Amino acid sequence: MKNKVIVTGGTGYIGSHTAVELIADGFDVVIIDNLYNSDITVLDGIQAITGIKPRFYDYDICDRIKLNEVFIAEGKVDAIIHFAAYKAVGESVRKPLEYYRNNLVSLMNLLEMMEQHGTSALVFSSSCTVYGQPDTLPVTESSPVREAVSPYGYTKQIGEIIIRDAMAARQMQKAISLRYFNPIGAHPTAYIGELPHGVPENLVPFITQTAIGLRDELRVFGNDYNTPDGSCIRDYLHVVDLAKAHVVALKRLLEGQNKANYEVFNLGMGKGVSVLEAIAAFERATGEKVRYSVTARRPGDIEKIWADPSLANRELKWKTEITLDEAMETAWRWEKKIRNK
Ligand code: UD1
Repeated sequence: MKNKVIVTGGTGYIGSHTAVELIADGFDVVIIDNLYNSDITVLDGIQAITGIKPRFYDYDICDRIKLNEVFIAEGKVDAIIHFAAYKAVGESVRKPLEYYRNNLVSLMNLLEMMEQHGTSALVFSSSCTVYGQPDTLPVTESSPVREAVSPYGYTKQIGEIIIRDAMAARQMQKAISLRYFNPIGAHPTAYIGELPHGVPENLVPFITQTAIGLRDELRVFGNDYNTPDGSCIRDYLHVVDLAKAHVVALKRLLEGQNKANYEVFNLGMGKGVSVLEAIAAFERATGEKVRYSVTARRPGDIEKIWADPSLANRELKWKTEITLDEAMETAWRWEKKIRNK
């Protein structure tokens, strides 16, 4: 029988790509998403790629009663991958309580359901934001967790601690937190991709929307950082590579290959790329020009961070396979598809 996995936030950007990879690997996928930051048509995209439409519950996982209904309706659930969360750094500064409530109540509800309904494995969507600005680069999992710059960042730090403590108190359950660096790109079929509401906050959707003419120009937030070209450095990885890491992490737990009942892995390419290099990669990969100008630094941005992914390479036998240029090309394919160009 297929292993059944609940994917919260499964119509979102990373969730939908992960649902595709899970289905391709033979999992029975159940999605819970309140469509706060995603669209119901994403389910059609998943079906177009895999031939299977996952069962779907339009529920808010902060609602314990509704969440319990899903577990009762679904019977035995083997695992949960928990993506559903608010994720805008700036907004979290303006609406801290909304962020703490939404991101932490949902997690605690899921942990309680796991206990009540005998679900043994959890994979949690965390972020490199937990490291703040590290003293040494690349960052390993043992680098210190730093003061977060935003309530969003704290929800990831506290979320990890809640899971760690819950797992320490439980014998029958295990969990992995995956600390993502900067996911970009879209599924190569262009059936699913990133669907930002309104003006994008993240770099790559802003690049593609500028190239297609939706935005006048990209603002590069600062060129006076202590980096070779003065712009900030990040570790960009393709969303399909990231999605595949979830499948191997889940199997590690379900097959009992984990070395502790709570583990943490960095997921990145292991290479630092500046904002200006990212723009150049997009232009090279697509032949399109991106209008940009350099403006002031964005508050809360860290100067440079990239991953040491060797623990994930070794333990999960996972590594990124898609290059930055290929990732940019898929982002562009997706942008053209959704604008009918
Ligand atoms: C941040 C967080 C990440 C979080 C994500 C959610 C860190 C290190 N990362 O990603 O954990 O999940 O927000 O949104 O804290 N840029 C521009 N112009 C733009 C947009 C971005 O120059 O219009 C630059 C930024 O200054 C940054 C880079 O592009 O240097 C990437 O920015 P973005 O895509 O927003 O991701 P992070 O801020 O790295």
